[in-house]
Amino acid sequence: MVQSIERVEKVMTAAPVIPVLIVNDPKKAVPMARALVKGGLPSIEITLRTPNALDCIKAVADEVEGALVGAGTVLNHQQYEASVKAGSTFVVSPGATDALIAAAKDFADVPLLPGASTASEAMKLLEAGFQRQKFFPAVPAGGAPFLKGLSSPLAAVKFCPTGGVSLANATDFLKLPNVLCVGGSWIADASAIENEDWAGIEERAKAAAALS
Ligand code: 3PG
Repeated sequence: MVQSIERVEKVMTAAPVIPVLIVNDPKKAVPMARALVKGGLPSIEITLRTPNALDCIKAVADEVEGALVGAGTVLNHQQYEASVKAGSTFVVSPGATDALIAAAKDFADVPLLPGASTASEAMKLLEAGFQRQKFFPAVPAGGAPFLKGLSSPLAAVKFCPTGGVSLANATDFLKLPNVLCVGGSWIADASAIENEDWAGIEERAKAAAALS
């Protein structure tokens, strides 16, 4: 099976929010992840947007008890493979390509949450075996009303909307029948990580974990 629902849902249902992180220093990634887990957000997406992102994933996978760390912004087969080797529990991509889908088959133990932003993209991914998808970029692509519109015709697909989601609008998505969780960077943005604001990150994680 190209996407194990059980494996991907373990990540998607651990909490209502998956924090999306841009972090470059493994020494910061570890306390950041501890603050997120302590605040109630065990599923953590570290994006491959910094030179040391894979080292950050490895450090969190090795050192942070209770974290389910995944790689985000994975764009090709080589990055998928490297993410798996670093210890990722899951892989997220903003869209999907044939090469990425091939990688998801090659590394089926580490499920891919592929991105879609139209009905046709979601249908193609469903045909390829992906019943769990990221809706990206959620707000610019039409937000909660758009996603609600997909819930009846594409009832088999459940989403993690990401992109423009915040504490203020997260519940608009979370209340939809086709949403399992949301993703966003607001819990631990670049400046919070840079300033080592672990208490603030934990606080925002707690607020996010309480969403429903
Ligand atoms: C991203 O790809 O950066 C994520 O979707 C997070 O988006 P956000 O910064 O709007 O939360």
